[in-house]
Amino acid sequence: MTLKKETSSMELGECTRNPGYQDVDGGGSAADTVTAAVPGEKQDSTAVKLDPDAAEEYTQLKPYAGMPKEVLLLYSSQARYRVSREILFWLTVACTLALVVLTATVIALSPRCLSWWQTSPVYQIYPRSFRDSDGDGVGDLKGIQEQLDHFQYLNIKSVWISPFYRSPMKDFGYDVEDFRDIDPLFGTMEDFEALLAEMHNKGLKLIMDFIPNHTSDRHRWFNLSRTGDPHYKDYYIWVDCNQTVPRPNNWVSVFGNSSWTYDEVRGQCYLHQFLKEQPDLNFRNPNVSKEMIDIIHFWLGKGVDGFRMDAVKHILEAAHLRDEPQVDPNKPPESVTTEWDLYHDYTTSQLGLHDLLRDWRAEMDIYSREPGRYRFMVTESYDYHEVDKTMMYYGTPLVKESDFPFNFYLLDLPQNTSGLWVQHLVHLWMANMPRGQWANWVVGNHDRPRIASSAGQTYIRVINMLLLTLPGTPTTYYGEEIGMENINVTDMCPYTTHSLSNCSLRSPMQWSGDMNAGFNNKTNITWLPVHPEYRSINVEVQKEDESSVLAQYRFLNMLRQSELPLQRGWFCYVHADASVFAFLRELDGLNQAFLMVLNFGIESVITDLSSIRELPDQLKVLMSTNQVSDGKVLQKSRILTEAGEGLVIQYSTHTRFNPNHPGQCYVSEKACYLGALDILYKC
Ligand code: GLC
Ligand code: MG
Repeated sequence: MTLKKETSSMELGECTRNPGYQDVDGGGSAADTVTAAVPGEKQDSTAVKLDPDAAEEYTQLKPYAGMPKEVLLLYSSQARYRVSREILFWLTVACTLALVVLTATVIALSPRCLSWWQTSPVYQIYPRSFRDSDGDGVGDLKGIQEQLDHFQYLNIKSVWISPFYRSPMKDFGYDVEDFRDIDPLFGTMEDFEALLAEMHNKGLKLIMDFIPNHTSDRHRWFNLSRTGDPHYKDYYIWVDCNQTVPRPNNWVSVFGNSSWTYDEVRGQCYLHQFLKEQPDLNFRNPNVSKEMIDIIHFWLGKGVDGFRMDAVKHILEAAHLRDEPQVDPNKPPESVTTEWDLYHDYTTSQLGLHDLLRDWRAEMDIYSREPGRYRFMVTESYDYHEVDKTMMYYGTPLVKESDFPFNFYLLDLPQNTSGLWVQHLVHLWMANMPRGQWANWVVGNHDRPRIASSAGQTYIRVINMLLLTLPGTPTTYYGEEIGMENINVTDMCPYTTHSLSNCSLRSPMQWSGDMNAGFNNKTNITWLPVHPEYRSINVEVQKEDESSVLAQYRFLNMLRQSELPLQRGWFCYVHADASVFAFLRELDGLNQAFLMVLNFGIESVITDLSSIRELPDQLKVLMSTNQVSDGKVLQKSRILTEAGEGLVIQYSTHTRFNPNHPGQCYVSEKACYLGALDILYKC
């Protein structure tokens, strides 16, 4: 072996001397050999040759950092270093393998993590009515941005904003003039971008309305279509018709009367399933589908977190244009004017509809790959009385569609406030939802009377309690968290395009007891009157009151998000009668469970749950909507509730209810809690 003098001299010169080296042999030959490398000492300029004896002496040195390679190699072949090196090597390999196996097992055994659209309620903002920042009387995007703290206060993460596209507002934004622009009434694209950025900063997600079925008659495409532009002429559904009786068939609009309107410019009739100012797009033209995909990309590219797909069942119509069958065949055809007069065999849920939606879902998935950036899709389709049709929007186990179709059953709740009725409505969804899917619940929106008005103030708290303790995602229409009521607009609603009554449920959000309920604090104008009760029903007042509708909403939402059984556990019916609907939520492996006893009736009742063996005899009330019962301990045989009162009871148990009552229980995905490791696993 050759030791180059220059190398060793440099290294030894810079390093600490090895004490082992100093000790060698009381200054023997090895020392001499290596000292030859100390700078400053005169040396033979030729390389130092190590004979076997010298090497033997090297072995008596301890290795140290900075030792020349050749010397290191000398040590590395010694048994004690070689063996320990090999042991370490195989140990590392074994540990890596064990880690890989462990990780794979944990992944395989873990239930899916819930996504943002599952853990938070969806809050619907009607942008005209939420908050007016510039004092023109109409709510706007900047106004929404000013009020984002409201969502943090409520611990709400998902916000759906009804349309703010450029629009002539014949259907308040559901008639879109430009899918890539913001209506000046609501602000500018910069305002939108600022709002989205601020929402993301605060951990909030923005869901937009997407309106594929129709455009406004002011949309550029429609103008080009009616003038016969070759590219656009088939963007809408045109047919020859008689100018004086422009009814190529008996189809009627959702808003009443024929769904056909004669267009003077083109000399043909066009189809509109909503207002005549909302011509239906022709999705049998591949260019139209392409346009829609481009629009989806446009908004996803800007960063929006999801879409509420509007009026999806109307997207396709039968090309043969045959008359739809009348519900009452004896009715004179001329008096068939409302959507309830016909069976919509040819204008809704046509073959090909789900292919379109699944294609859109696939486009959204492209943007969903980054962690935490899942793009959510909810479909709106009023066909819940034909539940199979609704459930189709969940897709299949192999092809994804929407994350959920809106569940509108609870919109019917006010028709009959009784425990049995509520259980019936809940059951309709739970029993028909495809296995493994995620439920959701809507009690109000911009098309239906406010629940506090239709069901009555008495029930607003218990309805919010139901909404926030059922399994799945609740949707809250703005103002429901404070129990806002409809306004009376019979004389004063200036917007009569279609449904006068809809104005009554879109009145300005009641923020405070100040001027205009804090909706607009600049001028005295509000696009609709503020509800006269706004001094007592508003966010500011209710924040100060622990017993308010708002405080209870907030408490329940916090509870829902912090308690695993409420978030993702089993849901089991335990009782229903003319007044009470009672159910429990439990998670396998977890001893804490929740019982909800909700009185939707008109009188106070005592509910006897003594036949439910899995419940402890004594039950402690965690929260009562009437407050008086908070913290009370009740016998399970005598659970008293007043009309409109709801109880959340938290109890501890070692026996779960679901294993013995499979027919009464549902879970989206089974998960068990392992207390020792504080983890969930598939079971
Ligand atoms: C949906 C909207 C409704 C609108 C209609 C037409 O049903 O919720 O407000 O008028 O679609 O776009
Ligand atoms: Mg259509």
